[in-house]
Amino acid sequence: MVKLISSPNSALSGRVRVPGDKSISHRALMLSALAVGRSEVRGLLEGDDVLATAAAMRAMGATINRLGDGHYEVYGVGVGGLMSPDDIIDMGNSGTSTRLLLGLMASHDMTVTMTGDASLRSRPMGRVMDPLGEFGAEFSARGGRFLPLTITGTAQPLVLDYSPPMASAQVKSAVLLAGLNTPGRTIVREKIATRDHSERMLSAMGADIRVVVEDGVRIVSIEGQPELSPISIDVPGDISSSAFLLAAASMVPGSDVAVEAVGLNPLRTGIIGALTAMGADIVIENESTLGGEPVGTLRVRAAALKAATDLAVDPSTMIDEFPVLFCAAAVAEGVSRFTGLEELRVKESDRLNAMAVGLAANGVQVEELPDGLIIHGAGGHGACERIPGGGSVETHLDHRIAMSFSVLGQMATAPVTIDDASPMQTSFPGFTDLMTGLGAGLALED
Ligand code: S3P
Repeated sequence: MVKLISSPNSALSGRVRVPGDKSISHRALMLSALAVGRSEVRGLLEGDDVLATAAAMRAMGATINRLGDGHYEVYGVGVGGLMSPDDIIDMGNSGTSTRLLLGLMASHDMTVTMTGDASLRSRPMGRVMDPLGEFGAEFSARGGRFLPLTITGTAQPLVLDYSPPMASAQVKSAVLLAGLNTPGRTIVREKIATRDHSERMLSAMGADIRVVVEDGVRIVSIEGQPELSPISIDVPGDISSSAFLLAAASMVPGSDVAVEAVGLNPLRTGIIGALTAMGADIVIENESTLGGEPVGTLRVRAAALKAATDLAVDPSTMIDEFPVLFCAAAVAEGVSRFTGLEELRVKESDRLNAMAVGLAANGVQVEELPDGLIIHGAGGHGACERIPGGGSVETHLDHRIAMSFSVLGQMATAPVTIDDASPMQTSFPGFTDLMTGLGAGLALED
């Protein structure tokens, strides 16, 4: 465990890039490993989660070579060409790797045992085991639904028409990836649209994937057993990582930060709308496209934040950004009420509880609801205000909890102590250096 002490230093200013998008990086490795031929990926996130995906794809037969920083070449095995790894595969902290790979494995004639760290071993896998079982895959899992688990995929998968009971891009993608090696058309019906990186990338690689919206339901269907063409892709910066900078620069007086080449997929940009509705000053500049996704520079300047009353955005478009939005609410003027967020309880940690406990330990008045939080902001008279701070925060192996409290410490009277900074490595290598380079006060303590 590496302790991190966060305390105010100066206004934040500078132009930066954040590491590549985690969701797109996972998919770039998985799908190029199924293409026929050589793919190239630039700007890949070299965080532990994505490296776990790379190791798993190698263990199943793909060739993945690192050519330079974030630059990889991948020789695919073709759809249907994955082989059983000769050992257990360890997915570390990565729910996305685990659930998406289970999708791929379900329709291959293979047997794989997967495990992960304590956080991942506590996360529900039933949400993918249920639909993948309908393709014909078989599972043996600890407690019925948890890692470690063994999947035996089927050589004769049956197509599925599935309506996930929760808004989850991981569940949708797991089903679509199982459909990739299944003859016929696999269908996923989403009541609430979730990030569509799988759909975009599969389409760019030549799969017959269609999206229609009927009566508010987003229906995604894919024809199985395509030959996927190799790709050459530049991964955009991760908006979920940028969110820490957007919140920090909004909160700390006098800040002015530009984050370049950030992915602005409309199913991911909820944090911009949510912060803007609280009074944040965020301007999008230099819009273009990268890797089949919209990108732009986000310029953010400090602003007087008001409480979030009626969240005007769909939670699925910013599901990973709530912890840092809660921090913004803690320094804003007024009482924020967040509800409908029960999914936050099954992330890398129970994020509602981890945030409630950490905020309270730092003098923020907070109430935990079954599906959300009520946060009494310290701000007043149209300005953000420092919170008392001085507390210690347990990160529970959750990168976003660690980074959120690093941001909050920049607006604390007494330093905020984060018990373990190492989980940041899963999604945002270099976070502390990047933040201190902008002017933040962060110090690591062994
Ligand atoms: C992801 C989907 C989301 C998100 C996760 C990445 C993805 O999870 O929280 O960090 O890449 O598909 P859910 O599908 O559980 O909402």
